[in-house]
Amino acid sequence: MNIFKTSFPINFNKTKNTYFSNNSKLFGNVTVPGDKSISQRSLIISLISVGTTTVKDILDSEDVFHTLKAIEELGAKIKKVDTSLEIKGVGLGNLLSPKKPIYMGNSGTGTRLLLGLVAGSNACVTFYGDASLSSRPMERIITPLEEMGATIISAENKKLPITVIGARTKGFVLPINYKLLIPSAQVKSAILLAAVSARGTSFITEYEKTRNYTESMLKQRGVYVTQKKINTNKSIISLDGASVIKSKNITIPGDPSSAVFMAVAALITKKSSITIKNVLNDKFRLSVFRVLKQMGARISFLEKKNNTCDITIKSSTLKSIIIKSNKSSSLIDEYPILSIAAASAKGETIMEGLGELRFKESDRFKAIIDGLSKCGVFIKGYKDTILIKGMKKIPGGCFINALNDHRIAMSFNVLNLIAEKPILISGNKSIMTSFPNFFNCLISLGAISLSYDRRKN
Ligand code: S3P
Repeated sequence: MNIFKTSFPINFNKTKNTYFSNNSKLFGNVTVPGDKSISQRSLIISLISVGTTTVKDILDSEDVFHTLKAIEELGAKIKKVDTSLEIKGVGLGNLLSPKKPIYMGNSGTGTRLLLGLVAGSNACVTFYGDASLSSRPMERIITPLEEMGATIISAENKKLPITVIGARTKGFVLPINYKLLIPSAQVKSAILLAAVSARGTSFITEYEKTRNYTESMLKQRGVYVTQKKINTNKSIISLDGASVIKSKNITIPGDPSSAVFMAVAALITKKSSITIKNVLNDKFRLSVFRVLKQMGARISFLEKKNNTCDITIKSSTLKSIIIKSNKSSSLIDEYPILSIAAASAKGETIMEGLGELRFKESDRFKAIIDGLSKCGVFIKGYKDTILIKGMKKIPGGCFINALNDHRIAMSFNVLNLIAEKPILISGNKSIMTSFPNFFNCLISLGAISLSYDRRKN
């Protein structure tokens, strides 16, 4: 683990001129790195915990690295011991106010959650990020955090850079009763992390389920959190302001959102059979695997202790599917790679309710349509829906700018495994934000990496 050095196992500049051969067959076992959402939260919650927390197998990626540096600026003391981090927290109410602005790189989760945490504190912090993060909407968290008493200073467009003056610098944090109209775990988590410092109980009504790691991790550390289910999708989360967060060691399981890139690679290549070990066994996050099974994928799960599972995937003939909008929050990170599966499936796949894709690391709605069209796939976008006509052979033979979006870059690298002519991809470096050993994992399973020769193409 290199988390203190930001040195990564592959020289990404070199991958600019390489691509995976359509002659690859994948076989064997692979372990994907730690879940990004849980890694980020483990750092942020350790910062406000009492005493020392040991975090094992944390995702060693750029996004997590920026959050790690940020919690150090806010007062955490961090030591690396073997494959673990030991994080000495400052406890609730003791965040430091750094003299300089904190750089969050590309990390939307790290930024939004920390903005929430600082909003409920007595610190004053400025956050800024790279070009992609600086273009992402922040109003969605600014509105509730201001309602809770924080002062938030940003440019008129309500984007980064943002300075937060915590509500406790001038009084209390006000509990909130908030309707989460955008289904966003990041917005929910920002509010919850501010609400921990409020006097009284805060309520958040969710109309669509989103990942629940912030509430479950706070609960495990002694915060009183409940969730009342109103119907299949709607629920009300309540959280009582706390004075102490207990520390609790954590081991981070493999990220299902990284695992699915390996899975689709195995599904679309011939004679492949792989097992992905120690993946987080969370029904919500594994919904992409159920969608793939409905498309005809041969996938089986072996449930293990510690909330993980091994997933076995064999080459499959995929068929098209209609994915309704009520699935979108559980598949939100998975649409780019699902589009690759759809492009190779028999029939027309329709994916509905994709509006939020426009606000990710890039405008993924547009990136999927532009990218697949360039590769010769019939794809159409209308309103929040994408239609993809699957084809037996993907022409490829084009250049794709992944717009520094890790999931777009990984998706088109996977598509190269079945493209007739190589797809040249720029922006592979962005893969460092979530899955630095993406190329090594595929190569270890047998993917053949070839060098793209400009003269021949
Ligand atoms: C995340 C929530 C999702 C997801 C992101 C990670 C999280 O974003 O896209 O990759 O860790 O809370 P939204 O909650 O904004 O949809």
